[in-house]
Amino acid sequence: MMDQVEFTQMKDGTKEEYEFLTRHEVAFTKGTADRLLSALVDLDEGLSGYKVTRLGHSLQSATRTWRDGADIDWVVSTLLHDIGDIYAPYNHDEYAATILRPFVREQCSWCVQTHGDFQMIYYGHHVGGNANKRDKFAGNIYFDDCAQFCKRWDQSSFDPDYDTLPIEHFAPMVHEVFARNAYDPDVIRAGVREPLVRSPRS
Ligand SMILES: [Fe+2]
Ligand SMILES: [Fe+2]
Repeated sequence: MMDQVEFTQMKDGTKEEYEFLTRHEVAFTKGTADRLLSALVDLDEGLSGYKVTRLGHSLQSATRTWRDGADIDWVVSTLLHDIGDIYAPYNHDEYAATILRPFVREQCSWCVQTHGDFQMIYYGHHVGGNANKRDKFAGNIYFDDCAQFCKRWDQSSFDPDYDTLPIEHFAPMVHEVFARNAYDPDVIRAGVREPLVRSPRS
């Protein structure tokens, strides 16, 4: 029974070795949800200067999403939308979208990917930036979805007095989403727009 490969350069590997490695990789991917949840907890240690921590902001955004009755793709995408802050402070939106893209609807990963530019509408003018940076996406089918995502769930979620749900509430949803088959067309549903607000939950 092989416990590691013989080769030291990939070009020398055998079919059996690559099949062995594939089994290892599949086993490793099953831990993705748990690794993301602990990364989210690490966000708590980031010094933010806001009234809530980055984890608090993530949970509050996801709580608002859940209470609006949005579906699981929206809830998990919102929960993880700022996870790129850990390693990619200058393109945290693209980083988070890259993690989500194989497992959620295109609509949601697009909004996560572009939310940084859309958020500028709320503060760009205070930092010498372009508040209308989102205008470069005018005409995109998801433009209004991202505008609503930012308005309802992102820019609004820095309130220490909001009744935010704990990470345990969202963990099963993260597990469900990351247990999907990557890039399944029935998950990605290119071009489909699900509403952000459906039957509100309490
Ligand atoms: Fe963000
Ligand atoms: Fe955010």
